[in-house]
Amino acid sequence: MPFYVKQGQVPHKRHITFAKDNGELYREELFSTHGFSNIYSNKYHHNMPTKVLSVEAVNVEHGNKWQDTLIQNYKIDSRLADKSGHFFSSRNQIFYNNDVAMYTAKVTEDTDLFYRNAYSDEIVFVHQGQGTLLSEYGKLDVRQWDYLVIPRGTTYQLKFDQYDDVRLFVIEANSMVEIPKHFRNEYGQLLESAPYCERDIRTPELADAIVEKGQFQLYSKYGERYQISQLEWHPFDLAGWDGFVYPWAINIQDYAPKVGQIHLPPSEHLIFTAHNFVICNFVPRLYDFHPQAIPAPYYHSNIDSDEVLYYVDGDFMSRTGIEAGYMTLHQKGVPHGPQPGKTEASIGKTETYEYAVMVDTFAPLHLTEHVRQCMSKDYNSSWLEK
Ligand SMILES: [Fe+2]
Repeated sequence: MPFYVKQGQVPHKRHITFAKDNGELYREELFSTHGFSNIYSNKYHHNMPTKVLSVEAVNVEHGNKWQDTLIQNYKIDSRLADKSGHFFSSRNQIFYNNDVAMYTAKVTEDTDLFYRNAYSDEIVFVHQGQGTLLSEYGKLDVRQWDYLVIPRGTTYQLKFDQYDDVRLFVIEANSMVEIPKHFRNEYGQLLESAPYCERDIRTPELADAIVEKGQFQLYSKYGERYQISQLEWHPFDLAGWDGFVYPWAINIQDYAPKVGQIHLPPSEHLIFTAHNFVICNFVPRLYDFHPQAIPAPYYHSNIDSDEVLYYVDGDFMSRTGIEAGYMTLHQKGVPHGPQPGKTEASIGKTETYEYAVMVDTFAPLHLTEHVRQCMSKDYNSSWLEK
């Protein structure tokens, strides 16, 4: 989505003959968004992408809704929900609504299965681990603390170099994940004032097509439902592709934060937008430089959003008892802010070392049974003076 990319061989015009050495045609697949009215890519397959031997429903569990939850402030240790599994079976759904779903996962094993999320764009934040994202579009190196932005409909595999300590935070968007429009100029280039630019964005590199006949298992996710398809040909059979739709990566360490004289709101730490929610991130930065500045945030009420934080690393300026892998949910209708002592402790500090990913949703979130299992029972009362 960031910009135009071309990999491998493509014909000199769209929708014309494009033949292999033996005279057979490559099969063009238009991969388009908003019908034919928004960004797209054209992919050139060795074989028709429609060759499916069979398809059937299959069950993959991610967690059930927790009924009768209270509207309050929550803190959870997402690690307590860990289970064994590969890059998509290991996901535990934590929060969700009609616009977005959030999962945490400890990935313990490799798989040769292919995966496609048909209804949702995915942002996979690689909290721990490194490896490779394999897709029709080629190979993309995966580094610790990468955001992988994977458009819906992409067939992919996520491979890690080792599986002893791999942890993911996955955000599923039921709308297109976008670079904020105000980060770009009228030509689409990222502005001088944007917190990241094209150099920070990594795109797939296409290797030789895999032209292999057999039975290849593709798990497709349609909302809550899964289907398994047996493909006759290996899906990574592209001779070339070009366009604007493809998976890409940006590392949270390449995000250049804004700093101000007095406390800047979280919206200054924006990284992605989507319909009805936004994603921000907190990264190491200098603190506010007014002589009387309070670097810790003020108490605030999100009157029209639920706020989720996933804690990645460092020392979190407004929270106590937080470790990497913890999450908080501060819901609309309930004020929240620094815990006792944190406001005073922040005064006079000049910088912070913290990494966290924030998801602000504009519709209320549902909680799953994983939250009940992983929550700190005393978090909502942790503002009471002891
Ligand atoms: Fe907040």
